[in-house]
Formats: sequence, C-alpha cells, structure tokens
Amino acid sequence: MKFLITAGPTREPLDPVRYLTNRSSGRMGYALAGAARHEGHEVLLISGPTTLDVPPGVDFIQVETAQQMYDAVHDLIKGVDVAILCAAVADYRPVACAEQKIKKSADKLVLELERTPDILGSMRTVFGFDGKLIGFAAETNDVIAYGRDKLVRKQCDMIVANDVSKPGIGFDSRENEVILIFPDKEVHLEQDTKERIAMQIIEHATVIEA
Ligand code: CTP
Repeated sequence: MKFLITAGPTREPLDPVRYLTNRSSGRMGYALAGAARHEGHEVLLISGPTTLDVPPGVDFIQVETAQQMYDAVHDLIKGVDVAILCAAVADYRPVACAEQKIKKSADKLVLELERTPDILGSMRTVFGFDGKLIGFAAETNDVIAYGRDKLVRKQCDMIVANDVSKPGIGFDSRENEVILIFPDKEVHLEQDTKERIAMQIIEHATVIEA
C-alpha cells in the first residue's frame, strides 16, 4: 500500500528572523513512517522542521509552513491508499510577515493572526481523497468525546487521540499512550515507546475496510 504521513511542527514566519511554532518533535510521525516502511509499504513523509533522521527507504519532502504542507499534500495525495496526518500544524499564522526585522519600540506589541488552511478537514471535501484517512487529536479533557466529534466532522476512518495533560507522554516525549477511535469502537494502547505505538497504529490502519 502507499502511505502519506505528515509529521512535525510547522513554522509560521513573523519577520526574517522570527516564527511561531510548537513543541512537536516529529517523533510520532517519523516512527509511523519507519513502521509502515518496515511492513513493506511505500511511504511518503511530509515533514515540518525536526532534528530527526528520515527512516531508510522513506520518500521525504521537507516543508516549513502550514500552507506549504497543505500544498504538498494537495499535490501528492493522488494514488495514496492510507493518509496519516500526524503533524502538529499551527492553527494560526501572522497575517503578514514583515519584510524587515521588527524593531522594539512600544511596551506592548499585538500580533494579528489568521487561521491556517485545515489539511485534515480538506482531505475529503477539497482534495477528494477516498482512501483510508487517519487524524490525530491532542486533548486535555473529554478525550474520547472530542476525538469522536473530529472523526465524524473530518470524515476520518480512525482518530489517534491522546491526553496531552498527562506528563511524560505525547508532545516532545519518547513515549505515548493513545486511544484509537473508530466509528464502532475504541482501542486503548497502553503507554509505550512511540516506535511500538506506531507499529500498532500501522497494523490497525492496514485492516480498516475500504
Ligand atoms: N491538522 C491539519 N491542518 C491544520 C491543523 C490540524 O491537518 N491546519 C490535523 C493534524 O495533523 C491532526 C488533526 O488535524 O491530525 C488535529 O486536528 P485539530 O482540529 O487541529 O486538533 P486540535 O488542535 O487537537 O483541535 P482543536 O484546536 O479543535 O482543539
């Protein structure tokens, strides 16, 4: 099967030397790419900036902003059987990127932000993707209810939900503990390394019925 996986944070520039980003390390997405490749699948990894090595045998596209990630997914989604959108895409970006470095002047500086394009939300409706679609949900409360709502709204086949309020798992850590949310059931994956969690997610992804 052909997999497309997004990973890592995005960077939204403010001026030539500054950007808005988040704490995503990219580890979960890279582990998924490695696991899918290990199972013999063709894998395209589209990633924001990380310090990680690309898993051997994985095709790789590096992007920086949410818009670049959106454009790359749009351009490359044709022929993909399974899309796993794991990237921690910035939800907002500065309305404008200053051409020159913003100098300090007043005591307060107000940034004006606008929504970035929703890649996961565009997969079915804008890109016409009809393969298996897997999204991620990071929640601090009501994990299953919010995850299930996302599953329906974004027309996904599976949501990988995690509770980011728990210390030691999820964002910027080596381990994760997730709940896989399907239309008809939930599967809890106990805390483990992101590599072992990734193997289990890939196993579940490959048996979703078309
Ligand atoms: N996502 C995306 N494009 C965006 C934002 C998010 O593709 N511009 C994807 C992520 O890769 C992830 C899922 O959407 O698969 C996360 O959904 P989102 O609604 O952004 O999640 P939260 O930030 O957890 O939700 P909310 O802000 O609604 O709490």
